[in-house]
Amino acid sequence: MTASTQSVDPFDLVIFGGTGDLALRKLLPALFHRFLDGQIPGSSRIVGIARETLDDAGYRAQLREALIGICDARQLDVFLQQVFYRPLDARKDEGWDDFAALIGSEPEHVRVFYLSTSPELFVDICTRLGHYKLNEGASRVVLEKPIGRDLASANQINDAVGKVFSESQTFRIDHYLGKETVQNLLVLRFGNALFEPLWNAGHIDHVQITVAETLGVGHRGSYYDRAGALRDMVQNHMLQLLCMVAMEPPSSLAPDAVRDEKLKVLHSLKPIDESNVSQLTVRGQYRAGVADGASVPGYPEELGNNKSNTETFVALKAEIANWRWAGVPFYLRTGKRLPSRVSEIAVTFKPVPHSIFGGDAGTLAQNRLVLRLQPDEGVKLWLTIKHPGPGGLRLRHVPLDMSFAEAFGVQQPDAYERLLLDVVRGNPTLFMRRDEVEAAWHWAGPILAAWADSGEPPRPYTAGSWGPSAAVALIERDGRTWNEDGE
Ligand code: BG6
Repeated sequence: MTASTQSVDPFDLVIFGGTGDLALRKLLPALFHRFLDGQIPGSSRIVGIARETLDDAGYRAQLREALIGICDARQLDVFLQQVFYRPLDARKDEGWDDFAALIGSEPEHVRVFYLSTSPELFVDICTRLGHYKLNEGASRVVLEKPIGRDLASANQINDAVGKVFSESQTFRIDHYLGKETVQNLLVLRFGNALFEPLWNAGHIDHVQITVAETLGVGHRGSYYDRAGALRDMVQNHMLQLLCMVAMEPPSSLAPDAVRDEKLKVLHSLKPIDESNVSQLTVRGQYRAGVADGASVPGYPEELGNNKSNTETFVALKAEIANWRWAGVPFYLRTGKRLPSRVSEIAVTFKPVPHSIFGGDAGTLAQNRLVLRLQPDEGVKLWLTIKHPGPGGLRLRHVPLDMSFAEAFGVQQPDAYERLLLDVVRGNPTLFMRRDEVEAAWHWAGPILAAWADSGEPPRPYTAGSWGPSAAVALIERDGRTWNEDGE
């Protein structure tokens, strides 16, 4: 075990949706990495659940294919001995007795039930778990996003899950909160005396949050077409990032101290509804183009449906109505099939109040703090300095640039690695509380409703571009521009 990992007591982790994309691409690799660091004790079990008829050996063979690149085969085989499979249908009785017997009835043993399924199944699964008393003692349930598709359906799910699992047993996961840079935002803001005095409307001009992906929707079309970018990315990941930037200092990192502050931000978001949706939001849908150097089809062709009005891109201007942030726009932008995969938070400070430099020196650029979530997680602080050497004062805008991988010589763990172990240890700080999810839907719902009422389709954009030109106009109207790659 490396010096920086902590030991973990034995646990059982059951993944509903165990053959799905998330399980194979993210959850199992994350668990395997934690195993390699000695954090999955030998008596722990990982149980995959899905409807497919498979046995332990068949499931292990699937996982071997998915995980083989990560490490040598010998270690993988040891890990796979701790992995099991049970075929179950949440809506049928068959197999549940056997499953309950496998999990056992020792309530002090940590049992994590990870629901990586469509939210329509959350209630059925939880009801069954309750029926077999698998919700007792140190049991926990993890709910993947999206929780519902609006406030009413989220409430329905939360109510039903709440009948089986208490709020303290319920972990609503948003994997963006497990990303290293998001954690680092807390440390940068509250572990340095430098930023906090400037972290307000007096000194900050605006904030941009970009989550750009080059991938299209691929085989997730049937889920994605019912969701769209606002439900898939903005209502959860992007609002959580916004909260981490904007919240007041919590008194500690105690779970409710942090979540109380995030909730206040969500409650302070200015409404966007039919009265202002066309000025404050832009929705787009990609068309055929070039992404990652290859020709790619448009969203309608990928989906096989020309009539879809689902947005694959959103840009919007949010505002927070409180003393700290009054008048500071938060520009949010996310989309599929954009030119590069980049997620970052860029905080631009106000210009200096008066320039003492003559016109020959060049223009004074605004300071900007850029937190890069991916790729190459790190921080850049853009400063104005003098170009070295003679020839008079020439101003240059240059970054203090720190890549975490270079600075610390380590690869950052995937967000799911941290979050899965937080669930096992019972630490909910980085998970969404019910009231946060509700507040996020409360803000997002009227935007969705206003789009639907307008009857306007999303604006087309070419795959490989930065979205519809209206997204550029959205920010340029305010005399600002989107942050270019890396600046
Ligand atoms: C998921 C969304 O929550 O986040 C996906 O459902 C998206 O559509 C993904 O691609 C992005 O996550 P990451 O960690 O790759 O930025």
